[in-house]
Amino acid sequence: MTREPSSARVLVSGATGRMGRRVIEEAAARDDARVVAGVSRDLSGKIDDIPVEPADEFEVVLREYDPDVLVDFSVPEASREFVADCAEANVACVVGTTGFTEDEFAEGGLAALREASERVPVLHASNFSRGVQALLRAVEGAVSDLPGYDVEVTESHHRHKRDAPSGTANAILDRIESVGEFDGRIHGREGDALREPGEIGVHARRAGGIRGEHEILLANEHEELRLTHRAGNRSAFADGALDAAGWLAGRNPGWYDFSEVVAE
Ligand SMILES: NC(=O)c1ccc[n+]([C@@H]2O[C@H](COP(=O)([O-])OP(=O)(O)OC[C@H]3O[C@@H](n4cnc5c(N)ncnc54)[C@H](OP(=O)(O)O)[C@@H]3O)[C@@H](O)[C@H]2O)c1
Repeated sequence: MTREPSSARVLVSGATGRMGRRVIEEAAARDDARVVAGVSRDLSGKIDDIPVEPADEFEVVLREYDPDVLVDFSVPEASREFVADCAEANVACVVGTTGFTEDEFAEGGLAALREASERVPVLHASNFSRGVQALLRAVEGAVSDLPGYDVEVTESHHRHKRDAPSGTANAILDRIESVGEFDGRIHGREGDALREPGEIGVHARRAGGIRGEHEILLANEHEELRLTHRAGNRSAFADGALDAAGWLAGRNPGWYDFSEVVAE
């Protein structure tokens, strides 16, 4: 049965992080999602008048604040545990954390989130910006229109980012491989590294405070096409995650995609 809460009660994990704080700030200006609390390992107190509770008492926090949906921007090892507790407590999960291993059934993969989605609605996205959703569609069109062109993907992020290549770059690569004939991904090049036909070059740059930039280069000997997305600030991601939270709360258990939120 589907219910549509007028304003989803949101719990934020990773609340003291760059994204968690932005989610709290952005939610204050919305009426479809209301942050009721955050959790943190270290801080207890308040962020912008929102109570922040200890992460190691997560199950107690779930009972006390009774959220409709978790919005998680933390680290994979923490995210998996938060989501498993939410599945027990019947709380929907929007997960923006990246860095889960690519093989979802390997240790560190998304399997724990998939398992939770049998009991509650779960939406994981490595990028909550609408511009990146549009980019993914544009990439799909370009790769199918330009067979045989060389493809290189370059992403740039701030110096604090842990995972490489970014979750968004991996989503772009998956999309490229789903529509074209490629032999594999080559991460960086060094030494005697002649480009082989069919390889996709992948490059990750880390510097300063760059919010997130992804460029897909398609080229043959006669022309180049470059598709680029640049995040101006973190509000695009926070807003997208809150759109997803309002959309997901009250839905049936299952595994959902951010493209479904954007399509509506
Ligand atoms: N999907 C998207 O659109 C999108 C956009 C931007 C970033 N991201 C991803 O979101 C994640 C967070 O990014 P960020 O820039 O906000 O990182 P950040 O500033 O480092 O914040 C992460 C927060 O997670 C919490 N945390 C870290 N380790 C933890 C642990 N073991 N247990 C419990 N909590 C832990 C920390 O809070 P406490 O120390 O207070 O517990 C920390 O403040 C990253 O994976 C990033 O790649 C996704």
